[in-house]
Amino acid sequence: MSSATPIPQPPGVPILGNVFDVDPSNTWWSLKTLAEKYGEIFQIKVLGHTIVFVASAALAEEICDEKRFQKYVGGPVVEIRALVHDSLFTAYDHEESWGIHHRLIAPQLTPEAVNSHFSELLACTDELITKWKTLGAATKIQPLEDLNRLNLEATTLTLFGKKLNGVNGSAEDIRKADAVLKAMEDSTSEAIKRPTRPIKLLNTLVYGSKFKKAISTYRAWAVDIVDYRKKNPTDRKDLLYTLMNQTDPETGAKLTDAQVIDEIDTMPIGSSTAPCAVTCAILFLLQNPQVITKAREEIDTVAGTSPLTAEHIPRLQYVAGIVRETLRLSFAAPGFNIEPIPKKDDKSPVLLAGGKYQIAHNQTMIIVLAGVNRDPAVFDDPLAFRPERMTGEAFERLPAGAKKWFGNGKRECIGKHWAWQFLVVVTARLIRELDFEAVNPSYQFKQDGWFNVRPVGFEVKVKARGA
Ligand code: HEM
Repeated sequence: MSSATPIPQPPGVPILGNVFDVDPSNTWWSLKTLAEKYGEIFQIKVLGHTIVFVASAALAEEICDEKRFQKYVGGPVVEIRALVHDSLFTAYDHEESWGIHHRLIAPQLTPEAVNSHFSELLACTDELITKWKTLGAATKIQPLEDLNRLNLEATTLTLFGKKLNGVNGSAEDIRKADAVLKAMEDSTSEAIKRPTRPIKLLNTLVYGSKFKKAISTYRAWAVDIVDYRKKNPTDRKDLLYTLMNQTDPETGAKLTDAQVIDEIDTMPIGSSTAPCAVTCAILFLLQNPQVITKAREEIDTVAGTSPLTAEHIPRLQYVAGIVRETLRLSFAAPGFNIEPIPKKDDKSPVLLAGGKYQIAHNQTMIIVLAGVNRDPAVFDDPLAFRPERMTGEAFERLPAGAKKWFGNGKRECIGKHWAWQFLVVVTARLIRELDFEAVNPSYQFKQDGWFNVRPVGFEVKVKARGA
């Protein structure tokens, strides 16, 4: 008989199990609440199916060991395959396409490749800053809306060489960019909800046509990008060039036209996490004005009165601390899925924490970053926003399991250098050039049911610094 500690589980109800412990329209918020109650590990059972959730840094580090565990592609990730098929994010671990796409795309997202687009990111950010400086100090805005537009603009320009003018362009250009963002959001949010609907037929009968329409609008946008490149030949050797022309160095494979569209559509889905994080940074900064003062001192020391350059970025260590502390407390990408690597003919249970816990050989697990990132065993006063703990040696000393906001191992975020540059540049410029005021100073972080965590209904007033 096993001496393992039973994995905690909410009591649930007969037959249906824990169906009422997770709100299908806001799954990640329910998991955050359960992590706060149960701690390092817990499980739920729904109609006989068990899912284990890991919410401590130590256990997260253990199940990020790629000799024992791998990414699990299931639930919403499988549903997103209706949109982007076997693209990087949604490919099963065993699919050959993952390696081909990864080898092609990774060189376009190295720190050097990202730096080569620095001036384009700066120009897109100028558009946002100009827009926000001229709004009028009494105007209330939801910063996430414009930051989403900025992210789409910067992703499309730097990776695919096309300007949308969707941040501060004509009303028609902004409307077109918003339609792309809406199609992306409609398709991905429907993908999140489909696995949790108890009556599967509803997915087809009630929600099927809206899902298909969103997918077709979002794919049409990617087709436009390819057409635009064909009609406007250029020497740019950007990600679009790679997707359309290059061959995998290992297999000689080239992407099909449909796979090119899959990967174009995948990138804004991945990068949509970044504006959610910047919006959270604005919220945390308003709650901690002393951090703004310190960051301004650093930016003045590093850049003086000059515009930011790529060389300034690694020297903005305190701003880097703000970004990391924001990633920790926002858990903007709220988690990722893991399973034990299948072993032929071995169905023995898998032990965790040196045998303290025991799980099935094929157990699906989800890392809940709301628990991991705020683990009291790692962070003193885990809810406090303290950029200092995310800089220099203090940051280096943190266990690897507490730094998983970009995922893990070979399936770690391929866009993390792009994201880093976006997060540091945009956060530094907002701090340096603008003053924000919260519309509701006692606003409490609320999340809707999307796959990224974003502060819903958070409003600010914004003006040029010191105006
Ligand atoms: C704050 C910004 C970001 C965060 C926190 C973030 C987080 C993550 C996480 C946690 C994963 C792992 C998902 C899993 O294991 O299922 C991931 C994967 C991925 N991300 Fe990001 N991401 C960010 C920005 C970006 C950007 C800017 C891009 C593209 C330019 C991107 C593209 C991707 C792709 C394609 C994958 C799948 C990689 C693979 O499985 O090979 N992400 N990201």
